[in-house]
Amino acid sequence: MGSELDRRAFRDLSYGLYIVTSREGNRLNGQIVNTVIQVTSDPPRVAVIINKKNLTHEFITQSGVFGVSVLDDTTTMTFIGPFGFRSGRDGDKFAGVPFKKGSTGVPLVTEHSLSLLEAKVIDCVDLGTHSLFVGDVVSSEVLKTGNPLTYHFYHEVLKGKSPPNAPTFMSHQPL
Ligand SMILES: Cc1cc2nc3c(=O)[nH]c(=O)nc-3n(C[C@H](O)[C@H](O)[C@H](O)COP(=O)(O)O)c2cc1C
Repeated sequence: MGSELDRRAFRDLSYGLYIVTSREGNRLNGQIVNTVIQVTSDPPRVAVIINKKNLTHEFITQSGVFGVSVLDDTTTMTFIGPFGFRSGRDGDKFAGVPFKKGSTGVPLVTEHSLSLLEAKVIDCVDLGTHSLFVGDVVSSEVLKTGNPLTYHFYHEVLKGKSPPNAPTFMSHQPL
């Protein structure tokens, strides 16, 4: 059954693009994700899916908090690169990137960002390669109006790829 799947069908699912951040003590980190969704309104809760190999996964598990920056369509591949294709284990991703600290102590990227959210983890679902973290939203702020960056725009206009740690990775596609 699995070998008969037409993986192109998954490409028709719509997503936005976000920087999800966390901290471990004073260490800060963040990564690109396409998997932020609001899951309930009352109380306001969001969920995010993070690969277990990522430093961000380690930080969210340790601190129990995460931040979300909603990227806009002025975001460039140069800006996305360090957050989406490198690990914070190999260097500080926040050097030279404008951000502010939220009430939970997580960094919130302010460049190319429309809105900011912070959440406290209330549940974690083991998905095998990834974890799904569900969090209560404890702060939210709109920085400016604009167009959210979509996964479609990322693929079609920015010609971006999905790396192996992304849930939407397609192994037959060259990076
Ligand atoms: C467009 C795009 C979407 C991505 N979506 C996700 C995602 O939803 N979840 C995830 O765990 N990784 C995702 N990634 C991969 C991470 O951003 C990448 O593995 C990052 O280097 C992890 O960094 P860290 O080890 O510092 O946490 C995505 C990357 C890109 C470029």
